[in-house]
Amino acid sequence: MSDSAAEGFPNLRLVAHPLVQHKLAVLRDKTTPPIAFRQLLRELGLLLGYEITRDLPLERRPIETPIAEMQAPHLAGEITIVSILRAGLGLAEGIRELMPMAREGHIGVFRDPKSKQPQEYYVKLPEDPGRALLIDPMLATGGSAAHAIDVLIARGVPASEIRFLCLVAAPEGVSRLAEAHPEVPIVAGALDSHLDSHAYIVPGLGDAGDRLFGTL
Ligand code: URA
Repeated sequence: MSDSAAEGFPNLRLVAHPLVQHKLAVLRDKTTPPIAFRQLLRELGLLLGYEITRDLPLERRPIETPIAEMQAPHLAGEITIVSILRAGLGLAEGIRELMPMAREGHIGVFRDPKSKQPQEYYVKLPEDPGRALLIDPMLATGGSAAHAIDVLIARGVPASEIRFLCLVAAPEGVSRLAEAHPEVPIVAGALDSHLDSHAYIVPGLGDAGDRLFGTL
């Protein structure tokens, strides 16, 4: 299977690579313990990180190989990996390994149980983030992701320079992001069926933060 834009969701690219699908299946399994969950999340960060960085711009700079001088392509400009707390931390580990030169930021958002609206409790970003790779394994209602994108735009990151990476997306979240921020592409491992009455993704994998940190 090749990667594809999901039908009806032009902002979503699904990564059909067999390794991604296999690791995601193990991650979803409720018997997978936190230590394996953490390892798989990191590995999926590596694999999906390759996809989310596919179209980053390059610039040529002079280097000398042992044989000759050349203009070699390097990544252009600054990149910031931005984890949405807490579960984004697990997926960001793999991205950090791919791009140790990137800076990092963190955005903490929770959903108020009464108003169901995203409530921000923590934001730490570099002064000038450049391009942003926004990371959260679960795109459920899309409220936290839309809010985090608002924060990045308010800090001077153009919407066209933001990419969102998740493992599992719900149609509700993809639609919300398409409405709020149509310029932001989403890369995901899977598009699941729907949200349940508690806004968990079905079939999903449960609470990614609890499974990552063993706080079940
Ligand atoms: N966050 C999670 O961790 N899991 C879901 O299913 C939805 C949101």
